[in-house]
Amino acid sequence: MAFKVLALGGDGIGPEVVEASLKVLEVAAQSIGLAVDLSQDLLHGACWEKYGTFIRPKTLEKARNADALLVGAAGGPRWDHIVIDGGPEEQDGLMKLRHELDVFACIRHARAWDALIERTPFKPARVRGADVVVMRELCGGAMFTQSRGVESKADGSRRAYDLNEYGSDEIARFARVGLEVARRRKGRVVSVDKSNVFIAGKLWREMVEDVAKSEFSDVELTHLFADNAAYQLCCQPATFDVILPGKGSVQGTAIYEPVHGSAPDIAGQGIANPVGMILSMAMMLEYSAGAKECAKKIELAVDAALNAGFATKDIGGTHGTVEMTDAIILHFQSL
Ligand code: NAI
Ligand code: MG
Repeated sequence: MAFKVLALGGDGIGPEVVEASLKVLEVAAQSIGLAVDLSQDLLHGACWEKYGTFIRPKTLEKARNADALLVGAAGGPRWDHIVIDGGPEEQDGLMKLRHELDVFACIRHARAWDALIERTPFKPARVRGADVVVMRELCGGAMFTQSRGVESKADGSRRAYDLNEYGSDEIARFARVGLEVARRRKGRVVSVDKSNVFIAGKLWREMVEDVAKSEFSDVELTHLFADNAAYQLCCQPATFDVILPGKGSVQGTAIYEPVHGSAPDIAGQGIANPVGMILSMAMMLEYSAGAKECAKKIELAVDAALNAGFATKDIGGTHGTVEMTDAIILHFQSL
């Protein structure tokens, strides 16, 4: 059966980087004989302009039936002020997708590329070798709570709140994914919380500890308070493996997207850096299509293209989105 991909470019540079990743996907899938059944649709602002909604029911249906989603970016000054009745998931097409598909675990991979090491804000000696996965919980906590609002008080002042709440099951299922990811990597997890201050943080630490002890005795777990974790990550990034902040093979439909936004300041200029999106697509091949070798080859091709001097403007180069993408494809084919 073909591997079903739903690609949603979204807004700003989103469609540009998604197009780049699809170009690489075509070559990569062909190289391993993977049949891809690709469909594309509009998301958020782009969807609002055409249909007056951030995501159509039809698109949600397609998403539920897909093996994986590729998403560019959602949002922009044209739509950021629009307020829809309902919870946080109604305000944003991407949040709606995460909510509907119950995509609660975000796996964010960051590494220090040798070719770019002099251009990072860090001292090269400190950052060299850094290869970190930062997990992010996507369906709970303050960012996604339904307990939110603004209240007007009798004295005319206002009070706004977003409740930082976590259920023990929510924490456990998220911890499980992080520990599983670590098991496939270097086997080390740093769980980050503010259990010295927050009650939700205490439950966080307790549940992560429980799951690790009972199901992942082979993974090394340590705990850090959030402020110290940020400090240690700056001082010795290369010592981290997986970070599980409280704030496996992927089961169900997963969404693959780069960390950046829609970059309205450079949209349409052909200069967006496609690497984040291309590596997100590679993660899709690894986690959702079971093609780990092929994903690794894409990462090596990015490394090779960077080492050969290809770079977009944001990372100190002069190459455009298409040139960068084609360089990655060329290196992929010669590996
Ligand atoms: P942003 O990530 O879009 O841009 C920040 C800066 O980084 C800009 O100068 C931009 O040109 C640059 N940049 C970002 N991605 C780049 C790329 N691939 N290549 C080259 N340069 C790149 O963040 P910003 O400006 O805070 O948000 C813009 C819009 O994007 C907002 O509407 C925001 O809500 C939305 N957004 C969406 C996200 C998502 O879809 N997951 C995540 C973050 C923001
Ligand atoms: Mg993102």
